[in-house]
Amino acid sequence: MPDSDALVTAARAARERAIAPYSGFKVGAALLTRGGRTFGGCNVENASYGLTVCAERVALLKALSEGERDFVMIAVVADTASPTPPCGPCRQLLWEYCGDIPVVMANLTTVKGQHQMRDLLPLPFDGRLLG
Ligand code: THU
Repeated sequence: MPDSDALVTAARAARERAIAPYSGFKVGAALLTRGGRTFGGCNVENASYGLTVCAERVALLKALSEGERDFVMIAVVADTASPTPPCGPCRQLLWEYCGDIPVVMANLTTVKGQHQMRDLLPLPFDGRLLG
């Protein structure tokens, strides 16, 4: 199993760079490739609200755009007592490009939970259903 502590630390660092002036809710993510590279991401908000991009998708799109295709774990960090799970659109994209990876959820001090993507997105729509 990959080192989730290091990934959570990277997600906490990414969260420091969050651009969240509208919600005030800063999120960091860190995505680990099978080759050992870590891609951090933070949420980036926009005055339109709807164009906001979540931390998870920023991390994923950074990695994909660098040519990475094989992922083993993602960590998500927010400053909350309860875990912050990926939103629906992020689950859809994480499933497509990462498959059944573990999602580690933590706050600034503590790991609050870990779930497999198959449990976060049961009965997924994906490319296998396109015929
Ligand atoms: N957000 C994330 O970045 N990731 C999540 O898993 C949940 C929500 C962001 C989007 C928005 O900038 C703010 O948190 C409040 O929803």
